Amino acid sequence: MDHIKAIAFDLYGTLFDVHSVVACCDEQFPGRGREISTIWRQKQLEYTWLRSLMNRYVTFEQATEDALRFTCRHLRLDLDSEACKTLCEAYLRLQPFPEVPETLRELRRRGLKLAMLSNGSPHSIGAVVGNAGLRGEFDYLLSVDPVRVYKPDDRAYLLAEKAFGVGRSSILFVSSNAWDATGARYFGFPTCWINRSGSVFEEMGQTPDWQRGGLDEMLSLFDSGAAGR
Ligand code: 2OP
Repeated sequence: MDHIKAIAFDLYGTLFDVHSVVACCDEQFPGRGREISTIWRQKQLEYTWLRSLMNRYVTFEQATEDALRFTCRHLRLDLDSEACKTLCEAYLRLQPFPEVPETLRELRRRGLKLAMLSNGSPHSIGAVVGNAGLRGEFDYLLSVDPVRVYKPDDRAYLLAEKAFGVGRSSILFVSSNAWDATGARYFGFPTCWINRSGSVFEEMGQTPDWQRGGLDEMLSLFDSGAAGR
């Protein structure tokens, strides 16, 4: 792994747990939190992909709010504007997975440059990272907002290559989202898929270079020159 100079991380689901909103959903709709959170996340992703296909960009916050409204209508839950605001704000206070802060620090100690590359807007990325006290761990917080198209479009991944100013083969891309790892691999990033839940990878013509069960397990990639798959 000597050739890896920098790492770009996905945010939602990779470093931060999107299901940290379950408790807040439960407060608004008792007993329905997990169901809401699961459909909300899936719909949020679908809206970003569909809007990219239609060339009808809206910010990630807007797509997130739209997805929440759909979810509540689908579940026949009455979402008033106050509850909508409360739940969308909860998305700005997601919790990092437990091993994340120390792993980021260790990667920095090893001399790697780090960036977040997320479909989130600059505001939401800054809020989520800042609320968790992790702003200092990143050289760059990169949002797709300037290119107005979402990952897995190549133009989104290009933002990381431009920011780091090194070739894409020197940038490790890390994501828990198999669709995102697939897009990054097609773009040309060496890719590590963080598979915390024992899922199977996508069938879209790519496989990740490495698969790990948590972010901390990624450190072994940098231990001994050549990394095991
Ligand atoms: C991201 O952080 C949506 O998980 C995706 O870009």
